[in-house]
Amino acid sequence: MASVWGIDIGKAALKAVKLRRTREGLEIQAIEHIPYPIEDDEDERQEHVNDALRSFLSKHRIGSDTVVVGIPGQHALSRFIQLPPVDRSKLAVMVRMEAQQQIPFPISEVNWDFVQLPQEEPGGEVEVGIFATRSELIDGFLADMQEHGLQPDIVTIVPLAIYNFVRHNGGEFDEATVILDIGAEHTDLVIVDGERFWIRNLRIAGNDITKALAERFKIPFAEAEKLKRSSSKSPQARKIFSAMKPVLKDLLGEIHRSVGFFKSQAEDLDVKRMILLGDGAKLKNLTKFFKEELGYPVTRVQRLEEESFIIDPDVDLDVLKKHLLGLAVPLGLAVQGAGEARCAVNLAPQTLQLQAQLKAKLPLALATVVCSWLALGLSYSYWTSNRDALGRTLKSIKKLNAYQAIQAEAEGLKDFAKEEKAARELAALGEGRLLMLDFLDALGQELPKENGALTPLPADLRRGPVNKQIDYLLEQEARRKKNDRRLWLLDLDVGTVSMDERRGYKVVLTVAKSYDRGNVEPSAVREEIKASFVAGLRSRLTDAPFYVRTGPSASEYGDMTVSTPQIAYGLNPANREDRDTGALECVFVTVSFEIGFPPPEAPKPPAEGEEGGE
Ligand SMILES: Nc1ncnc2c1ncn2[C@@H]1O[C@H](COP(=O)(O)OP(=O)(O)OP(=O)(O)O)[C@@H](O)[C@H]1O
Ligand SMILES: [Mg+2]
Repeated sequence: MASVWGIDIGKAALKAVKLRRTREGLEIQAIEHIPYPIEDDEDERQEHVNDALRSFLSKHRIGSDTVVVGIPGQHALSRFIQLPPVDRSKLAVMVRMEAQQQIPFPISEVNWDFVQLPQEEPGGEVEVGIFATRSELIDGFLADMQEHGLQPDIVTIVPLAIYNFVRHNGGEFDEATVILDIGAEHTDLVIVDGERFWIRNLRIAGNDITKALAERFKIPFAEAEKLKRSSSKSPQARKIFSAMKPVLKDLLGEIHRSVGFFKSQAEDLDVKRMILLGDGAKLKNLTKFFKEELGYPVTRVQRLEEESFIIDPDVDLDVLKKHLLGLAVPLGLAVQGAGEARCAVNLAPQTLQLQAQLKAKLPLALATVVCSWLALGLSYSYWTSNRDALGRTLKSIKKLNAYQAIQAEAEGLKDFAKEEKAARELAALGEGRLLMLDFLDALGQELPKENGALTPLPADLRRGPVNKQIDYLLEQEARRKKNDRRLWLLDLDVGTVSMDERRGYKVVLTVAKSYDRGNVEPSAVREEIKASFVAGLRSRLTDAPFYVRTGPSASEYGDMTVSTPQIAYGLNPANREDRDTGALECVFVTVSFEIGFPPPEAPKPPAEGEEGGE
């Protein structure tokens, strides 16, 4: 598995962690903590972020590593809802309907996702968390990164990264725990109680403390920041703390209000302890202050648990220790990328999610080729408009149900057929999203994995002397080398076509095979490609959910066209000249076909006697 980067672009620093899943657990391979210059100027911030990103990318090659980023908590919306116990497919439809009610923006303008929380008692109600962020915000956030050539695969929200970190780092949450990540401009509050959790963003954070010091001592922001950080060593420590106290009291008030709010939703919520994170939690005497005010234990995250994380010897332990509080977010992000997150919410646009899936399935070079056609038919706007249409259809089906209950059944049945057709078509569009992935799976299975095995010994030789057997195998091996049996996939071109008024894909594969000139005819190589690779691929694609055709008429479904072979040298068909450079002599063929879904079945007419009946 490639590695995973969790990258947190905070308001004070860029923090990143590189993780790799090993048999022993998640291994931290690299950490980065790049602070921006200290100043209180919003306008300069993006430039500092750009500088930090440049510095990060100049040090680390991301390549095919998975990249996970988090949107700040204040831009996220979260709702927890209870639903009756239903199976997974129905649950998705119900959650979609709920999301439309719960999210205070048109659903087409948000990226949203949901998770089902572990059920407290089997067969009981299902609790679902819905998370959303405005699409334009995510698009802007991603565009800033893409300017640096950084393409995230997963976009979640910072408070969920915090939740995933604390869950992965071990520890019991049988007692309700408040987790507070104090950053520069925001504080994220997460309450964990058994399997339940809640998140909230608080307005007061580290910069407010610095501003209070700057005002009190009439010094510039940067100087006040220095004073804050060195307050433990200052002879004026008491005076400094008393200047900070009103801000800390405000923060405390926000914590009380948040806990009170969640208590109004879950009466049995009884907070018993607090865990602090974020560099803002480095503040001297902070744990003591909270402990006294809250009356329960308050601790900072002190270490990474051995059973949770392994640390590569190249990672500087002193740096890790120094920045641990601030690295919780990128750690939580990377934990999600490594597939270990308790709450794996992904708000990335559909195209990015699809590209990420392709990246996981295909080698990087091929994924890049494949990704180039994504824009063709799977653009995000295409998806959001379909999502909208699906929402509208579902809504009208819901209305129709009520209507059916009170109207004449015959009329109702007629309308239901119409709605069902629309829903079927939209569901098929949803399936279409996965069609290409399924296709790539089939293609991946058909492409040779290894370069041929030793030919088994003929029966008569098997009983003969060993030296003869060895000679035979060596001869076979020499021949195999000469007539390399590898098949290369050189190009994959995908366009969209209409198939029976539904979306289909036109696929053109270019494959190449080296051959033994003098002993084998190119046409024989073509037949071999046809008989092994193409026939194998075709048999994989003719079963559901595929529907393969080459010709424009439905009667030709089931065929693939294999072009006349071309002979060239090297692995580029245009490269015909390098005969004397020891390049491979290859036969090229293109294989073209179309895939899509079978046409929708016409809705069955009501059986005789059913019409108007009960
Ligand atoms: N030694 C220290 N003592 C007190 N406060 C500190 C110390 N070091 C850093 N901070 C404060 O920590 C805050 C930055 O924390 P952190 O790096 O977690 O923020 P961020 O994640 O970049 O910001 P945000 O979460 O708001 O986007 C700043 O307000 C800074 O003043
Ligand atoms: Mg932060």
